[in-house]
Amino acid sequence: MGLGARAAPFTYVAHALAVAAAAMVLVWCIHFRGGLAFEATNKNLIFNVHPVLMLIGYLILGSEAIMVYKVLPTWKHDSTKLIHLILHAIALVLGVIGIYCAFKFHNESGIANLYSLHSWLGIGTICLYGIQWIFGFVTFFFPRASPNVRKGALPWHILFGLFVYILALATAQLGFLEKLTFLQSSGLDKYGAEAFLVNFTALAVVLFGASVVVAAVSPARFEEPHDYAPIPGH
Ligand code: HEM
Ligand code: HEM
Repeated sequence: MGLGARAAPFTYVAHALAVAAAAMVLVWCIHFRGGLAFEATNKNLIFNVHPVLMLIGYLILGSEAIMVYKVLPTWKHDSTKLIHLILHAIALVLGVIGIYCAFKFHNESGIANLYSLHSWLGIGTICLYGIQWIFGFVTFFFPRASPNVRKGALPWHILFGLFVYILALATAQLGFLEKLTFLQSSGLDKYGAEAFLVNFTALAVVLFGASVVVAAVSPARFEEPHDYAPIPGH
């Protein structure tokens, strides 16, 4: 699929938005919500690890993994493939730890588990991500399928990979919405600084995700057709 645009500018935009979104989620959870902890008497601090790890660890690292072929187009394919699979593995592990923190917060606060659409899509997305990783590893890395099978499998790997990635973006949107709605129902100012911060973080994630997807479906560089010649006089 070609959009007639090169991937590079979209990767720059994605990086800038990733830095902005990461900074905003940290300011939210540390400055407004009191900080991060794995063990604490204030259980909200355990919850705060969840959005931070899901955004920075899972979504942003996963996006860097997807974009690596476009960010480092001149590197050897074997090297970018290795970076791709390692970054995806780290993203998966941090995502699992982030989800564990949400469960830990619920269990230690006596709150039920898995009652929301967010949590259902969250479990679905992390499982599909794990399956995608295993299939990718076995097909393209070790033991590696035959060249013909690899060729046939690649479009499916890209399609399914982008599907899982978009599902993860949507899950994060529901998470931001859900948490902000909880806070607003317990008295948080609907037009206050914190509400704007959370909504702008979620908006940055939408634009960030869009840039990553466009970068993934765009070519790293154009191969001009050999018979191309500019129209004389133009
Ligand atoms: C793709 C990223 C994300 C995934 C896969 C994910 C997954 C999950 C899962 C599986 C749970 C259920 C925990 C339980 O039932 O004990 C959960 C809970 C929760 N998550 Fe996320 N989450 C993600 C991002 C976020 C973000 C960015 C926020 C923003 C604050 C958030 C807010 C919440 C809230 C408020 C809960 C508790 C309420 C509930 O269970 O729905 N999540 N998340
Ligand atoms: C959850 C994990 C994974 C996801 C979401 C994922 C997603 C993607 C996406 C979206 C692309 C297209 C990138 C582009 O064309 O710019 C891609 C390409 C690729 N992925 Fe994965 N991937 C995952 C795991 C793996 C693993 C474990 C391997 C094993 C080596 C792998 C091997 C490849 C290869 C060889 C390409 C083709 C690169 C090229 O076009 O030259 N992927 N992946």
